[in-house]
Amino acid sequence: MCGIVGYTGHENARDIIIDGLKKLEYRGYDSAGIAMQSKGELIVRKQKGKIANLEKTIADEHLYGTTGIGHTRWATHGVPSDLNAHPHVSGDGSIAIVHNGIVENYVELRRQLTEEYGVVFRTDTDSEVIAHLVSVLHKGKLEDAVLEAVKRMKGAYAFAAISKDEPGKIVAFRKDAPLIAGLGRGCNFIASDIPALLKYLNKIYLIENDELVICTPEQIQILDQQKNPVKREVLQVTWSLEDAEKEGYEHFMLKEIHEQPKAIRETLTRRLDENGRIRLDGISLTLEDLEHFNKIYIVACGTAYHAGLVGKYIIEKMARIPVEVDVASEFRYRDPFVDDRTLFIAISQSGETLDTLAALREAKRKGARVLSVVNVVGSSVARESDDVFYTWAGPEIAVASTKAYTTQLICLYLIALYMADLRGTISQSYYQEVLAELQAIPDKVSTIISRAGEIEELAKYLYNRDQVFFIGRGIDSAVAYEGSLKLKEVSYINSFAIAAGELKHGTIALMEPETIVIALATQDFLFDKMYSNIVEVKARMAHVVSIAKEGDEKIREESTEVIYIPRCADEVTPLLSVIPLQLFAYYVARERGEDIDKPRNLAKSVTVE
Ligand code: AGP
Repeated sequence: MCGIVGYTGHENARDIIIDGLKKLEYRGYDSAGIAMQSKGELIVRKQKGKIANLEKTIADEHLYGTTGIGHTRWATHGVPSDLNAHPHVSGDGSIAIVHNGIVENYVELRRQLTEEYGVVFRTDTDSEVIAHLVSVLHKGKLEDAVLEAVKRMKGAYAFAAISKDEPGKIVAFRKDAPLIAGLGRGCNFIASDIPALLKYLNKIYLIENDELVICTPEQIQILDQQKNPVKREVLQVTWSLEDAEKEGYEHFMLKEIHEQPKAIRETLTRRLDENGRIRLDGISLTLEDLEHFNKIYIVACGTAYHAGLVGKYIIEKMARIPVEVDVASEFRYRDPFVDDRTLFIAISQSGETLDTLAALREAKRKGARVLSVVNVVGSSVARESDDVFYTWAGPEIAVASTKAYTTQLICLYLIALYMADLRGTISQSYYQEVLAELQAIPDKVSTIISRAGEIEELAKYLYNRDQVFFIGRGIDSAVAYEGSLKLKEVSYINSFAIAAGELKHGTIALMEPETIVIALATQDFLFDKMYSNIVEVKARMAHVVSIAKEGDEKIREESTEVIYIPRCADEVTPLLSVIPLQLFAYYVARERGEDIDKPRNLAKSVTVE
């Protein structure tokens, strides 16, 4: 998610904008830049890397301007680079823009601008299109050009623009990405969210979808797309800076759990073309390639590894290619059987996990084709892969991975369906059925999150236990491992996951009265077997919390509590059954008063052995 800051007033905008951008650093970014009106021209300074680097670069320049816009970029289209950093500028240097979100039809717009206006594009980004579009439509007033431009743009975006010919004016527009306007004293602001402005003001306007903002030192005007003024209440902000960074959530982990419907929707829908067919941008696997592979390795660490466990089930079931899943720290040292007929899939949120990177290099050395599923654009794992399939989860700040996991799953489902469709191992009706199931997931995740209160109550009752077991069969066992990791890494409770069928081979010796067992029982075709396992542990007086599909009443007979998830096909249940487990881990850790976003001994990205 990118950050936007704009200032127009009577002081030098440079330091005010830079300071505002620094308040957005917590969101994660890979480059930064500013543009200011100065003596009838636009000054633009931008570069890859931290804001501190940008500050150093401009330290000796006496940049002065009382109106400007700034940006921190979280790359989605185009790797992190000085050129791809924002602000982007029109060919004649008259318009500068900063953008958050995506212009979905940017390829078409690039073609039109090139053919009809001779525009020469300099970057790989979708955002650059906006600068040229506003410029070619600018016939006098910037706000008119912006309104014309957004008629042509598709996607989810918020952007701000300044023109060298309209001093003191910032124009911004919002469509499905956050935008606010801030009321200062003799100055006014726009921003992508509150932390950027808190140092200067506490009165803001929340900008709604399809609204345009005209910001000058004297006033803020909010207009609809027909230029009718919009009456908007001033919002008095009482948040601390830290509250604002979490947008009111108590922890980043909870915020990111709640962001999953949006993250899943963004990761999924941008890969479906107008006919509802899967379009795997960044992946050039052909049928010939797939026929050539005789094995797939999925290699990762931690939560990413658990996503790989789910990936095995769905790729083998749908594409009928053998899949081996391994933790990177083991794979890299066991001289694995890999050759040019191996497809190696690396999964990594950060793209910087050393073990995963080393395993990828080992697989490449042995001739494998490397495809990676990564959240950070331009990260080491992404750069060293033959194909990259990005999760569009946005920055994940909490050490405990949640939205990265569910968007990794989405990518694996899309890859599995794509491969199965190419190989003809599934019917078209099944292809469409699974896609429809995936498209229904965001709303079902929202439904589960709306019931978080019942999980919070359960956590209050169980938070002081010293051991919790997670059990499941089939794809549920893969999710059991993830649920166990979530609980142990944020609450420090000793939790343990095991395939339910394995209990009788030793582990059931640990069952005592009141032992806590979280039993995932979502697989219709395995229900009877799983039900027997629940009976076994219940017979030892365990406290069983079952995760089951709505409508399954039988499970109540042998469960102390049941947490229901909305009904869905067996294949896609991991996207839903993991949500109660994430919430359970969060609320238990909160009851225990742990440092949830930064658990002891852990790092967000393990870049060491
Ligand atoms: C997950 O909650 C943990 N923070 C950790 O297991 C993490 O998934 C693992 O270190 C892999 O990180 P990556 O996805 O950035 O490679």
